[in-house]
Amino acid sequence: MVDGSSGNGGAKEGITRRRFTLGVLLASLAGAFASLVAMLKLLVPEKKGGGYVATIQPGDVLVYAEGNSAGSAVEASSMKVGDAVLVYPTGKSSNPANLIQLIKLDEKAFKPPTDISLTDKGFAAYSAICTHLGCTVSWAANKESPDASVTECHCHGSIFNPAEGAKVMGGPAPIPLSQIGVKVGPDGTLAFTSDFNGPIGPQV
Ligand code: FES
Repeated sequence: MVDGSSGNGGAKEGITRRRFTLGVLLASLAGAFASLVAMLKLLVPEKKGGGYVATIQPGDVLVYAEGNSAGSAVEASSMKVGDAVLVYPTGKSSNPANLIQLIKLDEKAFKPPTDISLTDKGFAAYSAICTHLGCTVSWAANKESPDASVTECHCHGSIFNPAEGAKVMGGPAPIPLSQIGVKVGPDGTLAFTSDFNGPIGPQV
């Protein structure tokens, strides 16, 4: 005589085992999918702008972004032709999109497409966020010819000409660094006078 209850139990066991195997398979697929998405995020560059949204307002005073004087107002008299410093608008250093390179050249050195109305007494200011993938730019001072100093990005070798609207002289950066207006105040410190004249952050 056939034991029906034992046969039914075997069938149930088989179904349970198949469900378990299916569950393990689905969990593995979900894990593999999550890993693939994470990997693609690393490979695909950030979207245009890379989420950089500056919060600089006209009237904000420029303060040093680094060094012993970090947080102190920049004195116009402390910079000579061919100098550059990284600055923030005062009280807004927690936003990396606000990082600016302030440069000083001879007033006559600026050529189009520099917006001369955004400069003052040889001072000009550009976004310090490289338009390639968003590294912070640095300054390559030319001691023999200070007005020929350039802005560089060491990440992938982009070079920008600050005397000509920070136009791209070489490397993978797709567009110039955007300019922002500055003015020297009666007390000798500098303040911003405008918004950026173009996009900031990675543009690839
Ligand atoms: S991030 Fe500046 S050159 Fe690539």
